[in-house]
Amino acid sequence: MEKQLNRPKKAGKVYLVGAGPGDPDLLTIKAAKLLARADVIVHDGLVSREILDLASPSARRLSVAKQRSLHSVPQGQINNILIEEAGKGHLVVRLKGGDPFIFGRGGEEADDCIAADIDVEIVPGISAALGCAAQARMPLTHRDASSAVSFVAGQCKGLSDQNWAGLAGKGRTLVIYMGVANAEAIVEKLIADGVAPDLPVAVLENGTRNNFRALRTLLTDLGDLVQRENIKSPALLVVGDVARYGDAEDKFREFAQMTGVIA
Ligand SMILES: C[S@@+](CC[C@H](N)C(=O)[O-])C[C@H]1O[C@@H](n2cnc3c(N)ncnc32)[C@H](O)[C@@H]1O
Repeated sequence: MEKQLNRPKKAGKVYLVGAGPGDPDLLTIKAAKLLARADVIVHDGLVSREILDLASPSARRLSVAKQRSLHSVPQGQINNILIEEAGKGHLVVRLKGGDPFIFGRGGEEADDCIAADIDVEIVPGISAALGCAAQARMPLTHRDASSAVSFVAGQCKGLSDQNWAGLAGKGRTLVIYMGVANAEAIVEKLIADGVAPDLPVAVLENGTRNNFRALRTLLTDLGDLVQRENIKSPALLVVGDVARYGDAEDKFREFAQMTGVIA
């Protein structure tokens, strides 16, 4: 153990950098500076082209893009790439959508780097929930509506293992990442847990990008909304009274009335 602690770190370094939800202007200054200095950039599929264009032209770019349930490069292999590249003395930027420590597997990558004696630093990014909420002008907390926020993964190692009890309801905001494909099942679980079927919900798709959409309805209609509006990833589901807020409040009522969800 002592030997391990005294051993000098290998020369390179890995930065786990949050790229934010899409808009390059939401990148931190630190992230932009690192992109300009990087020898190697290892990025996933949610990182926009405009952000990658900020990288130094001499930087080598490696895409390890993943799609839901389809990992083009297995996580262990990604970790090995980081370790190998930094072991050669390179400055490695591991660029991830949103924040590296919110459903980004940043913890696993950092652990493996540390175990391999590679210096690693985390550069936070704006997580999708924050970017989407800002664009929809929908506060995630509000003194009249919500004093607690939970970030939950809608599809994970086992959705059935997720305990949905107490996550949504009056005075709380539930933000569900990766929930579009399982929206119907999530609604069933929440209602079974006693959440009111007429609780407002919002779907925030392609946050901070040109094709952003904010759609609102009531919990009981969420699964249908996802189908009829053909919602695609990346999108967030927001469950709670805050979904009424923002510039689309009138649209929310109009839409819910039109679809017969409310009178
Ligand atoms: C693997 S998670 C990564 C989350 C990311 N680390 C973060 O902090 O935002 C991917 C999920 O984040 C959400 N997401 C990421 N970018 C988004 C965006 N621009 N608009 C809406 N949702 C987004 C979606 O739910 C997507 O399925």
